[in-house]
Amino acid sequence: MAKLMVLTLLGLGLALFRDHRASYQARLNAFREVKPVELPNCNLVKGIESGSEDLEILPSGLAFISSGLKYPGIKSFEPDKPGKILLMDLNEEDPTVLELKITGSKFDHSSFNPHGISTFTDEDNTVYLLVVNHPDFKSTVELFKFQEEEKSLLHLKTIRHELLPNLNDIVAVGPEHFYATNDHYFVDHYLRSWELYLGLAWSYVVYYSPTEVQVMADGFDFANGINISPDGKYVYIGELLAHKIHVYEKHANWTLTPLKVIRIQNILAEEPKVTRVYAENGTVLQGSTVASVYKGKLLIGTVFQKALYCEL
Ligand SMILES: *[C@@H]1O[C@H](CO)[C@@H](O)[C@H](O)[C@H]1NC(C)=O
Repeated sequence: MAKLMVLTLLGLGLALFRDHRASYQARLNAFREVKPVELPNCNLVKGIESGSEDLEILPSGLAFISSGLKYPGIKSFEPDKPGKILLMDLNEEDPTVLELKITGSKFDHSSFNPHGISTFTDEDNTVYLLVVNHPDFKSTVELFKFQEEEKSLLHLKTIRHELLPNLNDIVAVGPEHFYATNDHYFVDHYLRSWELYLGLAWSYVVYYSPTEVQVMADGFDFANGINISPDGKYVYIGELLAHKIHVYEKHANWTLTPLKVIRIQNILAEEPKVTRVYAENGTVLQGSTVASVYKGKLLIGTVFQKALYCEL
């Protein structure tokens, strides 16, 4: 009887494991084949070799690019160098990148590990750059003022909070106000792996301001990118392992109500209409994370590798 019990438990355990392994692979899209969609005129951006995980283009055509991310389990081509913020002027004929100098006495440049970024421009056209940072694999948000003449970032402040433990991306809605995704619930490495593997979907989104910090949406299977519509009415959240984009209505009190979900796996079949403008099987770009458009040009970034600039 005891033997039968042990065998049953073992069988149950194995079945659970197999089930989770299969769904884990499906969540990761591990066996997906990519059919290429080409664009006529693409060039790799010179000077980007170790990541362009996030980028944002200002209405003026200046692009900020976060480069050199170190993230557990992900390749880094420059593991011993700090990350950096690059600037690219998309108005130029053949734009190149330059590294923005960081000034401000309180900022530790040697542990800079930038991830998601977002800008906020105030009434007198001051541009603030908010950067998710992982010094020693912790999570902070660094607030910078962009100084265009000097091509530098003045460090103003480091933001830490217990509701911001595992930051991935942010979208700024004020100089010190933002929504942020936490891609995991647990901080501990061991618990994080199980959380991901079992698909607990405990990842969540927080609104932060100097006076109020609050969870505004939760239950995500790895909340990843976050952005806001140009009119500021809607917030978009990418749920990486569920292959979905969630659309939320943003209220005056900063709460979010779910409006609809766009499923990405049936991109060619479903409403609303989604157009795939570029796809590539990994020979040119690996691990692309972000893309943005300026005047008919498409700039695509990757987690740990290059960046591509194409005509649409
Ligand atoms: C926030 O605003 C929305 C829409 O006006 C309202 O439905 C909701 O009750 C408000 N929530 C809080 C906590 O005030």
